[in-house]
Parts: sequence; structure tokens; C-alpha cells
Amino acid sequence: MTTLIINIKELLQVRDSSILKVSGAEMAVLPTIKNAYLILKNGVISDFGFMEDLPNVNPEKCIDADGKMVLPSWCDSHTHIVYAGNREQEFVDRITGFTYEEIANRGGGILNSAKKLNETSEEEIYQQSKVRLEEVMRLGTGAVEIKSGYGLTVDGELKMLRVIQRLAQNYPITIKATFLGAHAFPSEYAKNHQGYIDLIINKMLPEIAENKLADFIDVFCETGYFTVEETREIMEAGIKFGLKPKIHVNQFNSIGGIQAGVKYNALSVDHLEIMKPKDIEALKNTETMPVALPSCSYFLSIPYTPAREMITAGLPIALASDYNPGSTPSGNMNFVVATACIKVKMTPEEAINAATINGAYAMGISETHGSITLGKKANLIITKHIHSYYQLPYAFGSNLIDTIIINGEIIL
Ligand code: NIG
Ligand code: FE
Repeated sequence: MTTLIINIKELLQVRDSSILKVSGAEMAVLPTIKNAYLILKNGVISDFGFMEDLPNVNPEKCIDADGKMVLPSWCDSHTHIVYAGNREQEFVDRITGFTYEEIANRGGGILNSAKKLNETSEEEIYQQSKVRLEEVMRLGTGAVEIKSGYGLTVDGELKMLRVIQRLAQNYPITIKATFLGAHAFPSEYAKNHQGYIDLIINKMLPEIAENKLADFIDVFCETGYFTVEETREIMEAGIKFGLKPKIHVNQFNSIGGIQAGVKYNALSVDHLEIMKPKDIEALKNTETMPVALPSCSYFLSIPYTPAREMITAGLPIALASDYNPGSTPSGNMNFVVATACIKVKMTPEEAINAATINGAYAMGISETHGSITLGKKANLIITKHIHSYYQLPYAFGSNLIDTIIINGEIIL
């Protein structure tokens, strides 16, 4: 199947295949082609260029994108979209004065979602989760990482990972699975942390590896959750089972999680709301992608990742949604990009780079996703008529998406 898109007002994020992430000052550059064509063949990008150079092609489908822009789909490298029920009551509790930490300390938070998940059937969790997956696809996400972490039991964690696997089998969007058994200590292990860590290492990990249910391992390294030492032990075990670490760090406190992640060559370190100079220093000259989650900062009213400072220090940044029932009940990457511009003062170019090529890197898929590059997956957003790509973050409340293409097929 060949699809030709013509008269593209501006084709965004055009990159050579050698570019797998962009860092520091490079993030301010978004390479584009004005008045372009794009050819998709058998689900991948097979040609593009200036309209005046359009070759003779005989496509099955032709889309006239006059006045519209085309960009690679968003690559959302951090979500928890497989969960049961919601936490609307906690939302209201926070409005009336309790903090996220206070709610968690009295049995709400992650343990509340774990209780709901363990009481819900696998089929029902699948049905609830697929609604969220379809929703983010319609909002322009073309690749997504999904974590477990609301089971916190052998059965619950495996159930979540099987749901993620089923979503990956049934939907055309690229899905990467992360095992986050180390999301919180279940109450029965509150006084026996090593007992739960042993369960993760000796029971959960072998089964997950045997059934190939995860690509990555995650730990919530934070005061009141997993210590740096515990995080190291779990990352080390995950690596032995072939899972690369991608970890939650520095959301509320800077306790050394970044340094541990870098030491274990984590693919990404995510959250980073609280960053000390030594944390920024630790990320320099590493392969680890720092990931900011501005919708989480927005929803919880906590500090935003100091992305400006980090970019000035030469670091790359990826943007992701963190879609989950407690801290970020939204998977809208358009809002993430807008919030990064409005609240974090990233430029539109930086934010688009962070939500495409760098997001793909943070899932280990930037060789195939995240830019308009020959041979990469034809996962694309065609915008409505827009004046410039600045309009994407500027008009933060408008849906400016006209058409969504995944694997070369129009899905919206
Ligand atoms: O990334 N910080 C840890 N985990 C999730 C939130 C979990 C929850 O509240 O359910 C996050 O924000
Ligand atoms: Fe998260």
C-alpha cells in the first residue's frame, strides 16, 4: 500500500537516520521542509522532499495537506495507563487541603490503585485500559511505554503485564512494557521491605522474563518508597533478566537515585522535579535520557523539572505524559508539549524534539520512531490548518489534529 501526501505546508522533524536523540543547544533546532511531499509505503516512510521535486508515483491513496503540517506522532515514553477504576476522591481531598504524600500515608495513593486492581478481573482491566489507549492514539501518540506497578503481588503484576501484551497485540501503535513491581511496598511488607524485594527478584522477575512480558524495569526511588540501595538491588536483578532500567527519581526529594540510575546505565531517569546541581552534573556525558513529566507537576502543583537549566548544561530532555490515576490522569501529549512551553519555558522546537525523537530514545526505539526519516515507521500527525507550528503549544486548549496515521494507515 502506497500513500502520497502532497502540498504539506511544513514537514516537521526531518532527520537523518544517524540522529537518535538531540541534546543541549541542538534541541532548539527543528529541521523542516516547507511545501513538501511525503510517501509512505508498506507502513514506513519511503520518500519525501520539496513539492517541486515530486517524483512520478502511482499511489493507492493521495492526501492533499494544503495549509496543514505533518509531524511524527508523539512518543510517550512514560505511562501507567493500565489500571482499574479511578482516584477522583483523592483529587477532591487534595483540593480540600491534603497533600499527595499525606493521602498516600493513610493508605491512598498507589496502594489504593493496587487494591482496586487486584479486585478487578483481567478482562475488565483490559476493557478499561483500551479506552485510554484509543484516546491517546486519537490525540496523536504513535508509540507508548506502559508500566505495571499497581499489582504489587505476583498475580497482580503478571495480570497487568499480560494486559499490556494484549494491547500490544491488538493495536497498531508501538507499545513497550515496563515492570514496576517496585512502585510501593504493599502494607503487609511495610515492616519487611527485604521480603517484598525478594518476592520481586525471586518470583516476579523470573516469570516475567520467561514469558517475555517486559522490556524494562522501573523502581520508584523516593523517600517513603524505595531507597537508593534497594533501587540498586532491583535494577541489578532486572538487568540479569535482560531488562534495562528506566526509573522514577527526584519527584519529591533528591536522594541519589539519578546517580544510581546512571551507574546502571538506565535508559532514562524520569520525573526530576527536584534537581540539585550535582544531579545535573551526574547526567552529563551519559547515555541516560532525562524525562520530564510536566502534566504531573501541573496536576499535583509540585515544581516543574528545571528543563531550561538542564538544556543549558548540555543535557537532552524527553517529555512524557505519566498518564496514571493518581498524579496525572491525562495522556494528552499536546498538553504536555504546551505545558513544557508555557510553564517550563522550553521553546516549541525544544518541546517537539523532546516529545518525538527524545521520547523515542527513552523507549529504545529511536532507530524506527520519532522523526521523518527514510525507513522509519509511518506514524504521523497531520494538523488542521495552522499558521505556524508555534500554534501547537500556543493554542493549548484546542485540538489541532486533523488526521492520524499509524503504520501507514489512517486511523482518524
Ligand atoms: O509517576 N511517582 C510514582 N508513580 C506515579 C504515580 C502513581 C500514583 O499516584 O498512582 C507517577 O507519578
Ligand atoms: Fe510515573
